[in-house]
Amino acid sequence: MHIAVVGSGYVGLVAGACFADLGHEVILVDNDEQKLTALKRGEVPIHEKFLPELLQRHRGHRLTFSDDLHAAVLASDAVFIAVGTPPTEQGHADLSYVESVASSIPSAINGYKVIVEKSTVPVYTSEWVRKIILRNAAPPESFDVASNPEFLREGTAVTDFLFPDRIVVGADNERCASVLRAIYAPLTEGSYYKRQDSIPQPDRAQIPPPLIVTSTKSAELIKHASNAFLAMKISFINAVASVCESVGANVQQVCQGIGTDSRIGPRFLNPGIGYGGSCFPKDLKAFREVARECGYEFRLLDEVMHINEEQRNRFLRKVRSALWTLRGKRLAVLGLAFKGGTDDIRESPAIMLVQTLLQEGCRVSAYDPAAQERAREVLNSRVEFAESPYDAAQGADALLILTEWDEFAALDLQRLHSLLKYPIVIDGRNLYDPESMAALGFTYHSIGRPVVTPEVGPLATGVSPRTVKKS
Ligand SMILES: NC(=O)c1ccc[n+]([C@@H]2O[C@H](COP(=O)([O-])OP(=O)(O)OC[C@H]3O[C@@H](n4cnc5c(N)ncnc54)[C@H](O)[C@@H]3O)[C@@H](O)[C@H]2O)c1
Repeated sequence: MHIAVVGSGYVGLVAGACFADLGHEVILVDNDEQKLTALKRGEVPIHEKFLPELLQRHRGHRLTFSDDLHAAVLASDAVFIAVGTPPTEQGHADLSYVESVASSIPSAINGYKVIVEKSTVPVYTSEWVRKIILRNAAPPESFDVASNPEFLREGTAVTDFLFPDRIVVGADNERCASVLRAIYAPLTEGSYYKRQDSIPQPDRAQIPPPLIVTSTKSAELIKHASNAFLAMKISFINAVASVCESVGANVQQVCQGIGTDSRIGPRFLNPGIGYGGSCFPKDLKAFREVARECGYEFRLLDEVMHINEEQRNRFLRKVRSALWTLRGKRLAVLGLAFKGGTDDIRESPAIMLVQTLLQEGCRVSAYDPAAQERAREVLNSRVEFAESPYDAAQGADALLILTEWDEFAALDLQRLHSLLKYPIVIDGRNLYDPESMAALGFTYHSIGRPVVTPEVGPLATGVSPRTVKKS
């Protein structure tokens, strides 16, 4: 099929590359000239596993880049809108980018087209998109508006897109639904997975994935409700971790005990420094606002957000309790992105923590495998950017782990011990086993588990780190 994807950010670029890999002809449209030039030159503007391979495979053949929305719509059966929907100051989703795209579509309608909301939008957006297109003189029978929310996670975006748990299609008639069924047929009928050159299958993949057809309103709600539920799960376990700290219990054990209940499940039960990123914070606010406008005060979401903010404050208190005063202290920070596997620092709790530490007079030496360049743009000159975790740790008063990159869970701990001024590790992602850290001579603070201090005697050897748990 011929597809236009408008917006070539984290979602649009991945969706465009994956649609091309499924065999469709894709035009990726963006109004950011710099980004388009970089894409046309063969650069990959975001850090995402398998994306370079897919772009290399399809660039200039099945996947082209353009700033000409009109021409892209003319050439397409389906137009996916994947532009940003950032929060307004009041917490609503700012839909002006979506509206701007919608109002440019009608002049290019030259036959039946499906306009698909890929961006995360509040319920009723599809009705507005339809109204805007009609207002701009498109015949009502010449198009339909569908909702096809995206559930990919940054860091594993390509794999999530091609091996989804489910595909949700919100369509209010069969003609419209059948276009989306055809687009996703290589996945839902399984032909993609039989190919030699398909992207490697992850663990837990459901093949073929189910395609769930709902009304457009339900699909819009599914996306907001999913993100709200996941954020709630994170805040819930963070709240439980706080209770564990008060009573001297171990949240890891509690997680194992509750996560093995099949009604609850173990995923997203990883205590930490709170959720961040470009989705959860804004989507929760937008969901609360849309519920409020519809007459429902979703107070549960207020509490989820409150716990999340408090989690960062609790972490700062841990840093203070480990180091007493902060002014003049030199801290090594591992991880700046909002999670492992990505270079995205939007609403990153790690960045927020570093900013607070700088305000309190600390000097920070930071390392992130992918987000360093983006972080440089928002952090001030008091942050030194290190070449490696060990470079960051050199002479530091303590090491802070803020993002769950695999490489941070596999550090050479003896080398680290020898580099730090004081062997203090404050781990916001629970990457290591407390007893093992104590045995190696570290004072080790983590989330929801007792603080441990070094055992007397020489540095022990042979402790293997835990692997990173991924939700
Ligand atoms: N990032 C994620 O993990 C994720 C996951 C699921 C859903 N979403 C949702 O998908 C949407 C996009 O998110 P993102 O992270 O890809 O955003 P992004 O900011 O990375 O990308 C948006 C892109 O849209 C382009 N754009 C804006 N206005 C345009 C216009 N009028 N014409 C052409 N291009 C235009 C921008 O230049 C930018 O490249 C959001 O609604 C987000 O909530 C994001």
